[in-house]
Parts: sequence; structure tokens; C-alpha cells
Amino acid sequence: MAASVDKTTETKTTPTKIAPAKGRLGVMIVGMGAVATTFIAGVEAVRKGIAKPIGSLTQMGTIRLGKRTDGRSPKISQFVPLANLKDMVFTAWDIFEDDAYAAAMNAGVLEKELLNKIKPFMRSIKPRKAVFDHNYVKLLDGKHVKKGKNKKDLAQQLRADIRDFKKKSKADRLVMIWCASTESFLKQSAVHESLEAFERGLEKNDPNIAPSMIYAYAALMEGVPFANGAPNLTVDIPVMMELSKANNAPIAGKDFKTGQTLMKTILAPGFKARMLGLNGWFSTNILGNRDGEVLEDPGSFKTKEESKLSVLDRILQPELYPDLYGNIHHKVRINYYPPRGDNKEGWDNIDIFGWLGYPMQIKVDFLCRDSILAAPIVLDLVLFLDLAKRSEELCGLGVQEWLSFYLKSPMTVPGLYPEHDLFIQSMKLKNTLRHLKGEPLITHLGLEYYD
Ligand SMILES: NC(=O)c1ccc[n+]([C@@H]2O[C@H](COP(=O)([O-])OP(=O)(O)OC[C@H]3O[C@@H](n4cnc5c(N)ncnc54)[C@H](O)[C@@H]3O)[C@@H](O)[C@H]2O)c1
Repeated sequence: MAASVDKTTETKTTPTKIAPAKGRLGVMIVGMGAVATTFIAGVEAVRKGIAKPIGSLTQMGTIRLGKRTDGRSPKISQFVPLANLKDMVFTAWDIFEDDAYAAAMNAGVLEKELLNKIKPFMRSIKPRKAVFDHNYVKLLDGKHVKKGKNKKDLAQQLRADIRDFKKKSKADRLVMIWCASTESFLKQSAVHESLEAFERGLEKNDPNIAPSMIYAYAALMEGVPFANGAPNLTVDIPVMMELSKANNAPIAGKDFKTGQTLMKTILAPGFKARMLGLNGWFSTNILGNRDGEVLEDPGSFKTKEESKLSVLDRILQPELYPDLYGNIHHKVRINYYPPRGDNKEGWDNIDIFGWLGYPMQIKVDFLCRDSILAAPIVLDLVLFLDLAKRSEELCGLGVQEWLSFYLKSPMTVPGLYPEHDLFIQSMKLKNTLRHLKGEPLITHLGLEYYD
């Protein structure tokens, strides 16, 4: 009978096979600075019941299933099999020898009283020697660095670290995430085109292979999922996409979507939805953490700038709306200002126009905390990449576009433009989870309520 057609939702699909989240999940973090230590300390504080995982969709979020009248909204963590926080174990690499307690104290994000409550745990996480080259991060230098005869040798040492950590921590599964500094701007080149070219490049120390690519290569060769939290080129190259698919090691990137870009991807879709015009968006940041210091270097800033600038064009689609968005002045500035530490100020002046072209202004002054916004993103990316690895349908796809929600420059398969609108990204993520479990997708049509 026609009346049985459900107008809100698509039909149920067969659930995909997902292996259970049994045993320990080993989290391997590249770079143990402000973001990494805020994440690690946060997980431990939540495990001890000292604090709540605010900002984390995997820990706090629910997902609506079926009709609005069904009253089914389980927690995401109960709907899909995610690793439990108590089963997470950690290791990291850094160019400084500081353990996680010292690094967190140095980063100055979390207060001493909180860190002291978890001090033995934080002290127990000591970074491994890093693969680092000063030429890619000009304003940093450290001595806790691996030596090797070429980049291939360094990659082998990282692979040995991965196996060593897995064995010593008794982890059943692993995920690697880049929380290290922003590297100098690199463009895709011949050495990134295939596995053969890349491995030859590793042997010949090709300068187009940045340290972040050596970590990613090591992870993917070991079948370990990799997330890229910085705007570096790292896994946005054919060789990594090929390796990711071939070795069932999902990848996601790039650049955590926090602070100012988060605000942009919340506001801009609203302007577009209401057909309000925009002719200027001036964004400036003052921040005083090490990330800000690294971004003083023009090479590293260019990498970040590219990532921050692409957002508006993609959301506003000037090619479809030339009268509204055909002539936008979009400027992004980052200013290193030490007194602020991690407590950034992201200031936006937005020039919009309305009916008959009359101008209006919006000012946003976001006094945010960079690492407090980034830490839950790290947690969710780690847990969702581990889920993707265990899912029969997702593990061989390579790029996990459904994780765009967390990222400033979301990766897609080549040729597809990325989706930046936070609300589309959120819907995409939740519909992916529904799809995995064979639940009808939610289209928000809702006509059946009026039958
Ligand atoms: N905090 C945010 O809101 C946010 C948002 C988007 C992206 N990010 C990116 O996340 C990354 C981390 O940010 P942060 O504030 O923690 O920076 P940070 O400077 O405090 O920490 C980075 C750490 O990485 C280490 N490092 C650098 N190169 C390394 C290498 N090759 N191997 C191992 N370690 C290395 C540094 O010594 C440092 O301890 C940066 O790239 C930043 O751009 C941060």
C-alpha cells in the first residue's frame, strides 16, 4: 500500500560488518605540545571522574534514529562500537625530551592543580626521538631527534617504534595522529605520485618528502590509520591515498577546525542560506603559544593561510552567486603575541549587505582557548578512525570524508570539492553512522507527520 512509504527517511540498508572494539587502543601522537598534552591529560581526567569530556561528540553526542515521534536518540557511543576511554594507551614523538607532565606545564593550557592530580600518569609518557628537519620548521630546533643514513632509514626506525609500542603496551589496534608543528608549504610533485617514486625519494633524501610524510608512510605501511591535524600536505598526495586503500588504513585530514575557522563555517552557511551578500571578511588572530611562534615563519604561515582561506569560497560558491559573493576581500592574519599564551583572540570584521545592497557589519571577537577546542577533536578523530578501520565498508576507502566535520581543509577523493559547511558536515557524519548500522538516513522531509 502506498501509505506505507516512509517520506522522512530512506529505506533501511544492511548493516556493515564492524569488528568489536576489543582490547586496547594504542594512540600514537606525533608532537607532544599544547594540543597533544591537553588531549592526553583530558582523557585521564575524564577516566578518573575529575572532569567531563565537553566538546566531544563521541562522548557527549546522541543520534536521532527513525521518526521524530519515535523517541529513539541513543548516545553515539552506545550506537556504534567505539573504543572505551579506559582502554586507551598512549605514546608520542617529540624533538624535546620533556615527558607529558613537563610538556603540559610548559604549554600552560591546563592549571597545575589539575595536572598534579594525574601527575604519575603524565610523567609516564615520555616521547620517542622524532624524525625532524629544521628546514621544514624554521623556528624550531631540538636535540631529541633520530639519526639515519637517509629518509628510508628514518621511516624504518619509525616502523620499529610502532611495533615496539604495540608489543610493550599490549595494544590490539593503533591509530596515529599528527599534532606536531606546521611545516613549510609544499606542493605535490613527481615524488608523491606513486609508491615506487616515493620509496626512491626516501632513499635519495628527496626534499619534497617532509618529516610528516615519513611518519604517515610508516603508519600506513604498518596498516595504522593516520589523521593529520596540521595544514601540512602529508597525506593529501596520491602515494598516501594508494597506501591507505591498499593497507586498509583509513586517513583523515587536514588541520583541526577550531577557533576562527569554526566560527566561519558556522556563520557563512547562515549568510548564504538567507541570501545575504558579503564583500569583506577580515580575520586577525593574536596568540602566544609555540604554534603561534612557528607560524611567524612565512613558509609555515603560507601553509596555514592556504588552509584558512579556502573555506569561504567553498561555502559561498561565488560562481553560483556572483551578485552576492563575486567580489569578496578575504584576509587572514596571525600575529604572535607571547602574553596571550594559548588563550587566543580571534577577531573578525565581516562586511555584509542586504536588501537593495544596503551594507551592514558584524564583529566577532572570540576569546578562545586553542587547545581546549582541539583536544576533543583529537579524541573523536582517533575513535572514529579506529571505528573505520574495524568497519568492513570503510576500511578500504582511503580518505574518510565523513570526518570533514573536524577539519579546516577536508580531504576528498581527487576531483571532488570539499564540503565546509559545519551543518552539512554534521549531517554527513551522522548519516554515515546510521548507514553503517543499517538505520534509515534522515532527510528532514517530514511530510508523513501531516498525513
Ligand atoms: N590548537 C588548535 O586549535 C589547532 C587548530 C588547528 C591546527 N592545529 C595544529 O596542531 C599542531 C599542534 O598545535 P600545538 O598548539 O600543540 O603546537 P605546539 O607547538 O605546542 O606542539 C607541537 C609539538 O610538535 C613538536 N614537533 C615539531 N615537529 C616535530 C616532528 N617532526 N616530530 C615530532 N614532534 C615534532 C614540537 O616540538 C612541539 O612540541 C600545529 O600544527 C597546529 O597548527 C592546532
